[in-house]
Parts: sequence; C-alpha cells; structure tokens
Amino acid sequence: MRVTLIFMCGIVGYVGEEPALPFMMDGLKRLEYRGYDSAGIAVVENGAIEIVKKAGKLEVLEKALVGHESTGTCGIGHTRWATHGGPNDANAHPHTDCSGRIAIIHNGIIENFLELRDRLREDGHELRSETDTEAIAHLIESEMVGNLTAAVRKALAQVTGAFSIAVVSADEPGLVVAAKRTSPLIVGVGAGGTMLASDPTALLPITREMVHILDDQVVEIRADGYRITTLEGADAEGQAITVEGDLVAVEKGGYDDFMLKEIYEQPAAVRDTLRGRTHDGGRIVMDELRLNERDVRNIDKVFVVACGTAFHAGLVAKYAIEHWTRLPVEIEIASEFRYRDPILDRDTLVVAVSQSGETIDTLEAVRHAREQHAKILTVSNTVGSSIPRESDGVLYMRAGPEIGVAATKTFTTQITALEILALWLAQVRGSLYAKECAEIVEEMHRLPELIRRALECRPAVKRIADDIASCRDVLFIGRHVGYPSALEGALKLKEISYLHAEGYAAGELKHGPIALIEEGVPVIAIANRCHVYEKVISNIQEVKARGANVIAVVTEGDTEAARHADSVIEVPETENELLAPIVTAVPLQLLAYEVAKVRGNDVDQPRNLAKSVTVE
Ligand code: AGP
Repeated sequence: MRVTLIFMCGIVGYVGEEPALPFMMDGLKRLEYRGYDSAGIAVVENGAIEIVKKAGKLEVLEKALVGHESTGTCGIGHTRWATHGGPNDANAHPHTDCSGRIAIIHNGIIENFLELRDRLREDGHELRSETDTEAIAHLIESEMVGNLTAAVRKALAQVTGAFSIAVVSADEPGLVVAAKRTSPLIVGVGAGGTMLASDPTALLPITREMVHILDDQVVEIRADGYRITTLEGADAEGQAITVEGDLVAVEKGGYDDFMLKEIYEQPAAVRDTLRGRTHDGGRIVMDELRLNERDVRNIDKVFVVACGTAFHAGLVAKYAIEHWTRLPVEIEIASEFRYRDPILDRDTLVVAVSQSGETIDTLEAVRHAREQHAKILTVSNTVGSSIPRESDGVLYMRAGPEIGVAATKTFTTQITALEILALWLAQVRGSLYAKECAEIVEEMHRLPELIRRALECRPAVKRIADDIASCRDVLFIGRHVGYPSALEGALKLKEISYLHAEGYAAGELKHGPIALIEEGVPVIAIANRCHVYEKVISNIQEVKARGANVIAVVTEGDTEAARHADSVIEVPETENELLAPIVTAVPLQLLAYEVAKVRGNDVDQPRNLAKSVTVE
C-alpha cells in the first residue's frame, strides 16, 4: 500500500556560542501549535550528529532528553503534523542520509517524492521512514561532492513541491543550510548566535529584528550571521521585519488554557483592531491599504475567499459589504475557488481572510485571482506572512498571537477588520452618508465593552455545558448574520469537544435537517433582537414542538424569547445588527470551551488539527 505523507510542521535551527539544545527546545515549544504528533532534534557534536526524536507531543521528547548532556552549538529541531501515515518515531524528523552524517528537517510536501524514493533505492540508498523528507537527505548525500550548500542546491533542483528545509552535516559543524519554497522561513541574529524558524515567535527570545527568506532562496546560518543566496547561487536579500508586541503575550497569563485566555482577550483585541483606523466624525483612515481610490470606485464585484472560521467571518462581511456598499459579494471556500473558473477581472476586488496568512488554500486562491488581474486585499493577523505579501493591500487584525488551535479572538477581530473595510469601501464609493457611517463607527468603538459584558455569561454557559456534554448531536440555527454565527458555533464545538454539531440557516431547517430533531436534542438558537427576530422565534417553536432542548442566545432582558426556550444566554444588544456576531460569538466560544472541559479534552491542541494549514 502506498502511503501519502503530508506535513505541516514547525522548524528551528541554531548556530552560536552556546549549546544549541535549550534554544531549540524553547523555539519548538513556541511552534508546537504548528504540529504536535512527533518532535525531534539533531545536534552536531564531536564530529557526529546526535539525533533524538519521538512520536507524541513535545513533552515526550523533553522526557527523552532528561539527563542528556549536549554541548553542541549547532542544531536543528522539528515538531510535526501529519495527515496520513503513522506518527511514529521513524517518521519523526530529523531524517538522515545512509551515513547518518547529514540530517534534515522539513515543512511542506515534496510532490515527486515517490519517484525520488524509487530512484534512490535503485541507486542503493536505504530509506528508513515513509516520509518524503528523507528522500532529500539521500539526494543531498548523492550530490555531496563539494560542500553542503552546493549539495543542497543540487538536491533541490530535483525536487518539486513546497518546502522549508534546514540541513546540518557532521563534516561542516557550525553551519545550518536552509532553503524555502512556499512554506515560511525566517532568520534572526541575536547576541549569542543565529536562529532560523518557520515562525517569528520562535525567534523572539533572541531578537525582534528578523528576515523572511523568500521563495527559492537558500540561507546559510553561522554563529556570526547569515548569508542569503538564490537556489542558483547568486547573492540575494530577504525581507526585513521588526516584530512588535509583548513576549508574555505568548504565555498563558494565569488562564488554564490559551483558548480561554484568548477568549478573554477579545475586548482588547477588538480595540486594537480599531485603533487609529477611525477619526473623530467617523471617517475611516486606511492609508495602509495601498489601493488607490479611483480603483476602488471602479470595483464592480467582490469575492471573499477564506477557510474555516475565517470563512464564517467572511460570510458576515458579505452581508455588511452588500448592505453598506451595494456591491455584489460572492463568498467562496478558498479550496474550491480556483477549481470552478470564477469570473474575475481588474475591476474585481478579492478579499482574502486568513489569520495565519499561511493557509495554502487561501494563498492559492489569491494567486489564481492575481493571474486574472483582480485586486487583492487581505485581512490577516500575521505581519509579513505569505498571503499579505502576495496581496495589493493588507489590513492587519492586530489580535496578538493566537496559540489555541480553535480560532476565537481572530474570529471577532476578523469581523471587526472586515466591517471597517466595508465602511471604508462605502465611504470611498459614497454609498453611505457620512452621518450613517459615523454612527456605525461610534458603535464599533463600544464593542470592546459589549464583549466584556458578554463574557459575564460564563456561569450560565457552564450550567448548559454540563447538560449537553453527553449528547450525540447539537444543532445551531440562526438567520441573517445569525447564520454565520451558528456555523461558527457548530465548528467550535466540533473542533474541541468532538461532538457532532451542525450550523443551519434557521429557515432551511424544515427542508430536511428537522428530521434530526428528537426528544432532548440540543438546538442552540441565535435569537438576538434583529429584523428577523420573529422568524427565528417561529423556527424555535418548530423544533420545540418536536422535542428539542432549545438554548437561545438572546438580547439582554428579552423575556419574549425566554418564553419559548428551555434556557437562555443573554448578550448585550448592538444597535446595528451587522455588528451582533462579534458579541454573540462569545457565548458560543465559551460553550464549546466548557463542553470540551467537561469531556476532558485538550482544548488548545485538539486531535487531528493544526493551527496553520499549509497543505492543500
Ligand atoms: C478555526 O478554529 C480553525 N482552526 C480553522 O477553521 C481556521 O480558521 C482555518 O484553518 C483558516 O485559518 P486561517 O485564518 O489561518 O487562514
């Protein structure tokens, strides 16, 4: 049987004056959200390479390293996420060549790996894992006539696919050679050495001044710095970035889990998203967008492309952009976008939404749209990530690092950023009166306080969570922007509680899904006051009549909805109903969190998931 292995991983490398191991382990801890089914390190020491790698979370590797004396000052480390194939010790990175004198780590997919492995075997190489990565180690071995860098270049010339790799050789201590195509790679120089990683977070302990390595570049890192060249060997430059923000922000700050901390960070995160983007009088300022206003006035159609939670935020944006600008908006799951031949031209605006800025499906959708000359605008949380770098303009959410795999604060800040963008489009195109725009902006500035009040629903949510933690199915229903809220509520619950949950447009329920309702099935209804409120109440009655246990998310003080539901969770009212999903998200996130806790699940690292999905 042929097994396809697909990786989405975190990589680190260090060369310096101090032992490499502590730097690498610290870096891997910060990267573990990228993948956590195995981890490993390789250190160049005493003319050999020492490798320790283990299936399981990083703590398994940490235990294996207890009492391990490692003084080598050059090494590489890896944390892995696989979609197919065993997450076992053999498949864990680093991988070596036949001699064990070359070790490699890799993030990405080598598309021609089966062909390479067959050829290498015919040439007498002994492959010991099922991975694509190992093939590169052997390719480097066969090309090793000069130095490591030259062999890496020759090996990569035979490889198709996506990669960021880092390689060490026992014969060239004090050197890590790394290269990149599509998958991210960053280097930074600190007082005691030079580091590389797949994410700036891993480099924060040594520096905030970093350089993104660009596609088809090779970087050699040594204790005193680094040198970037192209795959062909010409001198090259990466893209410099300065990472701002608080290092403590990546730690749990007193909360049990990152997810809970991130839920509670939402008032501050939404405030940061709005900061400096609106002026007194409600004028939106978007100098950072790099789109000229004439082009914006010529736009005749908008596409929103995104995946998962970002898609749900995009669905809210569709309602907002259409309502405020009167432009037609299509929303598309990014992985489907380019396969259906969408009609795009230079007057089309494509809005890509991706907190990580690295989701490959969204990146490829952006690339497809670019080829059709559409204007690309990205809403992202990650400065300098791949999707923003390939876009005409970027609006950063400024939510701060989100470590929990389940998106929470990035959902509410995505909607906030998208709605600010919608208002800006309306302002430039003259589709809203300045006064109307000013009123919405004013209310947006009240959102942090409304979210803070919504967080007070946690005790009520906890009681409900105890009830539904043992159910088999949970349905979420909503209308208008309550519909994307329902989709997101169901996704959150699925991701971390592993209960079967579905979100439906409440009016669609009677066209089939209502067959799922039987005595006691929990139905979470988004029933806050809005123009479709009465309709949602009717839908609640429909499921109630068939035995559902209705939990309604309602506007504070709404006694009418409370009469029809079995229990209610109150949230503060937003005068503008298009802003409501930013507030109603809070009880839904807390519900998923509390149910997952009752069920004893790891909420930060749910099974089978990874934070940044860099494979198609
Ligand atoms: C959300 O909880 C999920 N982890 C997932 O759906 C995520 O939103 C999706 O993979 C898109 O990620 P992005 O925003 O980084 O592109």
